[in-house]
Amino acid sequence: MKILTVVGARPQFIKAAPVSRILRQHHTEFLLHTGQHYDDAMSDLFFRQLAIPAPDLNLEVGSGRHGAQTGAMLPGIELVAIEQRPDWILIYGDTNSTLAGALVGAKLHIRVAHVEAGLRSYDRRMPEEVNRVVADHLSDILLSPTDAAVANLAREGITEGVRMVGDVMYDVALASAQAARKRDIVRRLGLKTKGYVLATVHRPGNVDEKGPLESVLKAFAECGETVVFPAHPRTRKRIREFGLESRLKETVRMIDPVDYLDFLALLIDAKKVATDSGGVQKEAYFFGIPCVTLRDETEWIETVEDGWNAVVGTDTPDVVDAIKNFNPRGTKSKSFGDGHAAEKIAGLLESFP
Ligand code: UD1
Ligand code: UDP
Repeated sequence: MKILTVVGARPQFIKAAPVSRILRQHHTEFLLHTGQHYDDAMSDLFFRQLAIPAPDLNLEVGSGRHGAQTGAMLPGIELVAIEQRPDWILIYGDTNSTLAGALVGAKLHIRVAHVEAGLRSYDRRMPEEVNRVVADHLSDILLSPTDAAVANLAREGITEGVRMVGDVMYDVALASAQAARKRDIVRRLGLKTKGYVLATVHRPGNVDEKGPLESVLKAFAECGETVVFPAHPRTRKRIREFGLESRLKETVRMIDPVDYLDFLALLIDAKKVATDSGGVQKEAYFFGIPCVTLRDETEWIETVEDGWNAVVGTDTPDVVDAIKNFNPRGTKSKSFGDGHAAEKIAGLLESFP
């Protein structure tokens, strides 16, 4: 088979790593990076650390408004698809790069495989929700990470081509845990095991307006814990624009984004996680770290049903209360697969009629 993989943003590099590795054992992959993320710490760093082959092409579209950014990706992906004539276009998650890959495949009658299909927040104001709904409806094979995702697809009348494979992020997390435990970032930052909260924030709804961003930063300052905060470039830019630097008390350690193993190392040793990231909510669950989600809903409902994720929004008192008092008990019972989602995906692409 020939597979055209389209990636562009940080979490997609992490998700693609195990799948690319397995696909390349028996097949040809053309790896197309749209250039949606471009800072070393948001892109190339992950290729190096996770031993992902260098992209065959980087479209270097960069940042922009949704229409401009997505539109800029289309001609480049289309040209490669026409030249390469792949058997599959493989897309991940819910970014503008995902949407662009899906559109090109559908228009050129090239089969589209969507990894992480069926996730829903049921909030169409989120750009990701629009991207995943369209991508799912255009995909030929829908590779879902959870049973809840399969049920979401069924509610929209999508049953054909749906396969529950487990979560590729679980594959990567399991495979990387040992290496992460050897990292010394916790010591280097002068932190104590279970003596800090790890925080990330980047959703447009939380950072593109001053109100919610200020409210979250205030909660970090007032929660009574050291907060380690590897800031997404979008968030750092907004903090500067809104003049919110003064909200970062000395207990709030805003640092640059870190590499994947350092991030896992910080997560494993954290007392709690506070985040609006989809991937980080799951990773907290994988490693049994209580998660405070800075949103009003989540796609990863298993983590909430099992009692490990408190979805609290962005109001300062609610976030402070959850950071101080949310203490899950009991075991983790929900399935994100068996750590072999990537093999299942490769097998399904090979055997799909
Ligand atoms: C994108 C995805 C989001 C995903 C996130 C992962 C969409 C619509 N959103 O959001 O689903 O959770 O990636 O991190 O596709 N920037 C830099 N350097 C970079 C990348 C971004 O400075 O390397 C800054 C730019 O100011 C840019 C802003 O971050 O305008 C936002 O980047 P963009 O890719 O548009 O969206 P994300 O918020 O990263
Ligand atoms: N991550 C990382 N370094 C950081 C912050 C996050 O490596 O400084 C990883 C994290 O481990 C997770 C992924 O990035 O696997 C999540 O990506 P992000 O939060 O950007 O996007 P989302 O999952 O919300 O789409």
